[in-house]
This record gives sequence, structure tokens and C-alpha cells, in this order.
Amino acid sequence: MKTWLVTGGAGFIGSNFVLRIRSRGVARIVNLDLLTYAGNLRNLDAPHSDPNHVFVRGDIGDREMVRDLLVRHQPETVVNFAAESHVDRSIDGPDPFIQTNVVGTFSLLKESLRYWQGLEEPSRSAFRFLHVSTDEVYGSLGPDDPAFSERTPYAPNSPYSASKAAADHLVRAYHHTYGLPTLTTNCSNNYGPRQFPEKLIPLMILNGLSGKPLPVYGDGLNVRDWLYVEDHCAAIEVVLLGGRPGETYNIGGGCELTNMEVVRSVCSLIDQLRPESPHRPHSSLVSFVKDRPGHDRRYAIDAAKIQSELGWRPEETFETGLRKTIHWYLENTDWVSSIQTGEYQEWIRKHYGES
Ligand code: NAD
Ligand code: TYD
Repeated sequence: MKTWLVTGGAGFIGSNFVLRIRSRGVARIVNLDLLTYAGNLRNLDAPHSDPNHVFVRGDIGDREMVRDLLVRHQPETVVNFAAESHVDRSIDGPDPFIQTNVVGTFSLLKESLRYWQGLEEPSRSAFRFLHVSTDEVYGSLGPDDPAFSERTPYAPNSPYSASKAAADHLVRAYHHTYGLPTLTTNCSNNYGPRQFPEKLIPLMILNGLSGKPLPVYGDGLNVRDWLYVEDHCAAIEVVLLGGRPGETYNIGGGCELTNMEVVRSVCSLIDQLRPESPHRPHSSLVSFVKDRPGHDRRYAIDAAKIQSELGWRPEETFETGLRKTIHWYLENTDWVSSIQTGEYQEWIRKHYGES
């Protein structure tokens, strides 16, 4: 069986991707994750008892360790999910974003190039480095602007998106200059099981269930294009298997919603699923709070390239994906309490000014 090195595979999207690959026996996974506050071994469903899953705790910026892993495991593919991923945290403290997203990705590229240059055919031609990125690198759209395509110029506005943009440029340069067979995916906002409740949808679900305020930034009319996480993982797999080296692929749900539309949908589903709740209607918990500095107004993805070249389309609608997501949080109360650690409580206190 071939081996894939997956970084950040204990986080939200990475763990959904690893579970998907493991469940279908597509590849043996070497999962390199630093286990920051966002990484959680509970995401991985008995990670140590599966012979086709090797978990390694470590930093993508640790060059000796990455070099050793590449030589030891001889992966055919590197998929880089590892990142600091939360815009609000990047505003509060950008340093780890530069360290992991820029310097860490650079380091991973250097070691991957060195490894790839030492490979013999046919391994050399089969090798791929897939970098998982975001639509936020394109900046903010006005209400009537066309959606982001792969040709939209980069215009990142937050320390998070700037750090991801820098990494994307390095990936591009490693292909252009050294010929490393890279692929880059730029995806819209994800939601689904195992997302850390600092992001909009899981925060609203968990606050709603416990009757806490639902903090909506500004006027609540910022627009995001939402995609269910398993659809994103399926897209990454098709890009890995059929994408052209050196290319970038935009991935999106074709599902633009204002934040208030998202929050109202979460509330009405919780109303239905928890008819006995004393907090019904949950929409009464909405509380408008101070806006995020530099808050991007609208993101939208034109996914025509991945659709026409690789035949990918999302399977879930927002309604079906959100229902699955809320069910998952309702059924996984141990997971929820395990991540609501002191660090999480501290972030919520600091950011929203409440306990
Ligand atoms: P996440 O924050 O849930 O997970 C990130 C993972 O990376 C964690 O497991 C963390 O422990 C690990 N990590 C952090 N620093 C590391 C380091 N130096 N070395 C090794 N591991 C490290 O993030 P996510 O939402 O799963 O996002 C994964 C990737 O997808 C990121 O690159 C992000 O930019 C991108 N992305 C996310 C979204 C989204 O909506 N969440 C959308 C598009 C793209
Ligand atoms: P988020 O999930 O942080 O993703 P991103 O900033 O990467 O798009 O936020 C999604 C949207 O929801 C964004 O417009 C900010 C908004 N938001 C709130 O209104 N309240 C919140 O508590 C959070 C976390 C986000």
C-alpha cells in the first residue's frame, strides 16, 4: 500500500480527511501533528490501533524530524493541512501564524524537494505535494463582484490570510523554480464534525445548546460560501489523484449565506432537535457584538475548474450538512467536554468578555 504523509491530521479538516482515507484503505497514513489547542487525538478514532495509521507528534518546521520521516516512510504524497487557522486569533497574536503557516510550510517544502530530488522513477513522477489553502487569500468581494476564480489576484487582509497567501506563493515558486510537483487548493469556509468551537458554526451550536449568548459580529451581514467538510475532503482526494502539477484549484459549496442566515438556520434546527429546551426559540440568544477589525465582507468561490476538469461537485446541501453537524455535536458530548479546556475557556473569556 502506498504511504501519504499528512500534516495537521489531528485538526478539523485533516482528521476528517485521515478518517476518510483510512476507512477506504486508500493509503497508509503518516500523520504529523503538533497537537496545538486545535489538534485532538480524539478526532482520530483509535489512532494507535490501526497498522495503516502512524501518528507522530511534531512540528512541520522541525527539519530533521521531517527529513527523517520522509526517508523512513517513503511517502508518495505530502498533504499539508497543518496551520494556525483562526482569523480572530491571528489578529490577537500573529506570531504563530507566521511561524507555522509561512516558515513551517517553507521548511516542509525544502525537505520535500530534497526528498523528491533523491527519488528514482517511477516514484519521482508519482510524487505530489498538496498544499491546503483558503479562499481568504483573495481578499474581500463587493456585493456584485464575480466569485473568486483561480485567476483572481491575491489581496489578503488579515494576518491569517496573509500568512496563507505567503505559503501559497512559496508553493508556487517551488514548482516554477525547482519543478516540485505541487498542487494547491483554495477552499471556502468549512463546517462539520470535529470543528473546534472557536469558529462560527460550532460556537453557535454549543452556545445555543447551553443557552449562552450567540455573538454575531457587526451587522451580521458578512457573507461566506459554506462547504461541508466531507465534500472538501473528497475534493482534495480528486485533486491529488487527477490534478495537474503546478495548478491551483478553487473549492466551494456554491452556498453563499450571510452570518445571520447561518445563525438562524442553526437556531431553528436546534429548536427542532431539542423541543424540550428552555432556551427556545434559540434565535432569542442572538447578541450583536463589536465587529472584527478589518472584517472581510464577502467571500464566494467559482468552482468551475475543479468541476469541469475533475468532475467534483459537493454532495451535501447546507440543510443536510448542517443537520449532520448538529447531530454529531449532540452525540459527542465527551469530545465537547474534552476540548472545553482551560485554554478554551480563557480564549472565550478574553475574546468575548464572558465566562
Ligand atoms: P485546525 O486549526 O482545526 O487544525 C490545524 C491542525 O494543525 C491542528 O491539528 C494543529 O495541531 C496542527 N498544527 C498547527 N501547527 C502545527 C505545526 N507547526 N506542525 C504540525 N501541526 C501543526 O484547522 P482546519 O480548520 O482543520 O484547517 C486545516 C487547513 O485547511 C488549514 O491549512 C487551513 O488554512 C485550511 N482551510 C481551512 C478552512 C476552514 O474553514 N476551516 C477553509 C479553507 C482552508
Ligand atoms: P469564522 O468561522 O471565524 O471563519 P472566517 O473568519 O475564516 O470566515 O467566521 C465566519 C464568519 O462569522 C465571519 O464573518 C466572522 C463571523 N463570526 C461571528 O459573527 N461571530 C463569531 O463569534 C465568530 C467566531 C465568527
